[in-house]
Amino acid sequence: MAEDSSLEYNFENHWNTAYQKTPVDKLGWYEKESTPSLELIALCNLPKNAQIFNAGAGASVLIEQLLSEGYSNLVVNDISSSALIELKNNVQKYKNSKIQFIVDDLTNPSELVKLKNIDLWHDRAVLHFFTTEKQQKTYFDLIRKTLKPNGFVILAEFNLEGAKKCSGLDVFNYNEAMLQEQLGDNFKLVKSFNYTYTQPSGGLREYVYTLFQRTEKE
Ligand SMILES: C[S@@+](CC[C@H](N)C(=O)[O-])C[C@H]1O[C@@H](n2cnc3c(N)ncnc32)[C@H](O)[C@@H]1O
Repeated sequence: MAEDSSLEYNFENHWNTAYQKTPVDKLGWYEKESTPSLELIALCNLPKNAQIFNAGAGASVLIEQLLSEGYSNLVVNDISSSALIELKNNVQKYKNSKIQFIVDDLTNPSELVKLKNIDLWHDRAVLHFFTTEKQQKTYFDLIRKTLKPNGFVILAEFNLEGAKKCSGLDVFNYNEAMLQEQLGDNFKLVKSFNYTYTQPSGGLREYVYTLFQRTEKE
């Protein structure tokens, strides 16, 4: 695991630059449709007013897809204000839905710690950028602090056979057992699968998709 010196790097600047210099549909993580995420979200059987939190959402099309499916209570986070400005523009027409935009660092949260009663935590391609033990602990503590009893967690990260870098940054690769260990005994794995994502450039990226449910009582 990397040393804490990686915390000195300006990640906010890194990600703002990524979103400012490249059109969203050319980014190495752009999805036209968030099919594997939507498949797992459907399994949760949530009411349409469930509070869904998207960690490091970027300008992901998932938000628009959830809104078009009728989900009306979304909390969208990113460290990059540029990404969230773009996302806000894309979802302007969904005026009857509650969408909260929170620019904050998942590994050093100030606003995110105020969240509570999240029904579903969704993360695609974000956790794997947290390479130090401290960053990872802060991230998983935040899930445990903000998620409802019986709430769901979807984590989709580069798998053990997957790329070792993305956007020029080192990544930490996962399998479902490693994610289970980080979440702890009060979460049970509902479903997982490996998934090969094709980048706009044609490159292939190997992911593990996991859906967990919190099992402890209130
Ligand atoms: C590879 S992109 C994935 C974006 C989106 N989840 C998707 O699937 O399209 C990683 C995202 O994580 C965000 N991010 C990186 N580090 C973060 C942090 N510490 N806190 C919050 N967001 C972060 C980046 O700005 C970027 O939008």
